[in-house]
Amino acid sequence: MTGTRDAPDRYGVMGYPVSHSRSPVIHRLFATQTGQNMTYELLEVAPQELEHAIRTFQRQGGRGLNITLPHKSEVARLVDELSEAASTAGAVNTLSIGPERILGDNTDGTGLVRDLTVNEEIPLRGSRILILGAGGATRGIMAPLLEEEPAAITIANRTLSKATALAGHFGSQGRVAACRFDELGPETPVDLIINATSAGVKGEDMPFPAAVIGAATICYDLSYGSGETPFTRWATEHGAARSITGWGMLVEQAAESFRIWRGVRPETAPILNRVPR
Ligand code: ATR
Repeated sequence: MTGTRDAPDRYGVMGYPVSHSRSPVIHRLFATQTGQNMTYELLEVAPQELEHAIRTFQRQGGRGLNITLPHKSEVARLVDELSEAASTAGAVNTLSIGPERILGDNTDGTGLVRDLTVNEEIPLRGSRILILGAGGATRGIMAPLLEEEPAAITIANRTLSKATALAGHFGSQGRVAACRFDELGPETPVDLIINATSAGVKGEDMPFPAAVIGAATICYDLSYGSGETPFTRWATEHGAARSITGWGMLVEQAAESFRIWRGVRPETAPILNRVPR
């Protein structure tokens, strides 16, 4: 018989707001590339409707969801089981859904490491990393970064107590330190600066001392935009060797979610260069 096909498996991304998300475009390209019979939709869900929306999606036979802002922490409380990555991050960005059980995973950290090391060819082993910010995003990337065995990670934050708490939580062999922004300067040289704050997105001045950027320092923003972000623009203006937005991280975390769901990892290189941001 020709022309018959099983109904496609259903996937999507839940966030609030979510209309700007590039995930449907990325996952549809992955599906075409790997020949997977699936759909991927945008699901705008307000916080108070989150649990109901996930249960409804499950009841309708949905197989998997990406979870984005502001739901990543909350959804960790709703699932039946957490992967080690999600448990360490305290946040979930990927749900694998069966009729009885929902597993929560987190692919943000592995997506970042893969973008840094594979796409951008930045060696992390033995490097000195500075992370700006001490919120959920920082918590999510700490364990995968430490696995790469950098020489040191410093977490700098406006609110020092949050940086100190995270450094204590992840501090292995004294490799993680905490400080305030005004303690940063040329006397603490770093190879890689990762921006995990939302500073600058409303047009305000960057609160970080530019002197922390050395001639060889690479600056990476976890956020992405249609081109530069306020942070990458600021970093370039202050002499960074390279300034990189989080677009590659978005594509790589998506590929990792896709692998968890479908058992096949799509090639990201064609998508990195092709999808308009
Ligand atoms: P996320 O989950 O994206 O990390 P979050 O938990 O709200 O979001 O954390 C946001 C981070 O950005 C925090 O480190 C926050 O600093 P505080 O802990 O002091 O609040 C930081 N941040 C946000 N706006 C900022 C600004 N204008 N200047 C400096 N840091 C800022």
